[in-house]
Amino acid sequence: MTKPDKKNDNVMEEIISLSKRRGFIFQGSEIYGGLAGTWDFGPLGVALKKNIENLWWKRFVSDREDMYGMDAAILMNQNVWKASGHVGGFSDPLVEDLKTKKRYRADHLLEAADVDPKGMTIAEMDALIREKKIKSPDGNALGEVRQFNLMFKTHVGATEDESAISYLRPETAQGMFVNFKNIVDTFHPKLPFGMAQIGKAFRNEISPGTFIFRKRELEQMEIEYFVDPRDEKKVDETFNALFDEQMAFLDDLGLSKSKIHKVEIAAADRAHYSKRSVDTEFDFVFGQKELLGLAYRTDYDLKAHTEASKVDLSYFDEETKARVTPHCIEPTFGLDRLILAVLSDAYTEDSMAGEKRVFLKFKPSVAPVKVAVFPLLKNKPDLVAKAREVYNQIRKAIPQTMFDDNGNIGKRYRRQDEIGTPLCVTVDFETIEQGTGVTVRDRDTGAQERVSLEKLATYLLEKLN
Ligand code: GAP
Repeated sequence: MTKPDKKNDNVMEEIISLSKRRGFIFQGSEIYGGLAGTWDFGPLGVALKKNIENLWWKRFVSDREDMYGMDAAILMNQNVWKASGHVGGFSDPLVEDLKTKKRYRADHLLEAADVDPKGMTIAEMDALIREKKIKSPDGNALGEVRQFNLMFKTHVGATEDESAISYLRPETAQGMFVNFKNIVDTFHPKLPFGMAQIGKAFRNEISPGTFIFRKRELEQMEIEYFVDPRDEKKVDETFNALFDEQMAFLDDLGLSKSKIHKVEIAAADRAHYSKRSVDTEFDFVFGQKELLGLAYRTDYDLKAHTEASKVDLSYFDEETKARVTPHCIEPTFGLDRLILAVLSDAYTEDSMAGEKRVFLKFKPSVAPVKVAVFPLLKNKPDLVAKAREVYNQIRKAIPQTMFDDNGNIGKRYRRQDEIGTPLCVTVDFETIEQGTGVTVRDRDTGAQERVSLEKLATYLLEKLN
């Protein structure tokens, strides 16, 4: 794990500041002083998020015949979470500053003291905190380490008794397991097949922090892929193929390969349901951290729900006339972490025409704005009218096109560079007077080319692809 340094702290601050300044991401409930662990996406943040979601849905759902899309409810019967093991087991080690009463993750404090907490029990963490005399970040003594359940509890309906308890889902996965039978009964899929969904999940994280990396209201893109457990070789091959697909998706987003790391998780550190887990970690600005997960959940969930609900969640194999409980392999993607990875990987500083420049080097497929169109001067009605005409023409082929006539041309280039727009089209006097087309400027090199209006849409599409 790489240690954060001062320079990287500054880069992180720059990314947070750019995200706010340019309308990507704002602090949640900001005018009331915020609400820890919540963030709001502005127009460019939503566009970036939707681009990532759409690429994911295309690769994992629309382009495949073996995937069934879902959008399950966030609130579920409390018995779902009892059966899945979340009511008793979905917790993190919490420790309290005895003076300020602030709460911290015990494993994070151990990491900060150069102790690797992986695989440790609560008692072992507690003993080490005492032995090493570890204090809170405010320098005070710490209380006992205990388990803290991360689920947000609520009540459904007008009564607040035990039977009305529900939880905001801490993972989207269970919405798919409880619909397994519905998919089998309505679509009659043959094994192997998968269910996929994108949606919100909620975790009452003890210490959220670091921008959108650890949120309390987060978004996941998950797949539950069901396989026949009788062919173990095929199960292994499928696990590896799904890992390769995860890597191909990171490539769709344009993430630097050198920052991506495959980490095989030791048995002691795996989730209670997993027989094998491979995490994908990424070199974020603040260190190498988990980005994606891949877990072999076996028949843990289908069996647990069969037992608790008394509804049979097995599968009848028409070919062999045998009834099996399928095993599940789960690729999971944290959408917020992907957004952060894409933002921080794209963040670039260089100098252009002797001036320092900050720009987001987005791959065009994720860029929130693909093309910006300007009139050279905003106080010349002929130029503005022609630029509007060109803008309307381009938008038909490239919907994520923006019209921009704020400030002078230099400021507009700087703004578009900061939001990562790959191409800027300028309508100037030559466009009108000589009919020689427009200039197209490349974000990364600053190079400009003159392109005729007839060829413009094709030229832009080729450049973006
Ligand atoms: N269904 C399996 C599951 O939920 P997980 O490792 O707990 O597994 C999956 O979470 C992914 O969700 C993680 O790899 C991470 O990208 C993302 N994630 C988890 N907790 C998060 C949080 N508090 N904020 C943002 N993303 C989070």
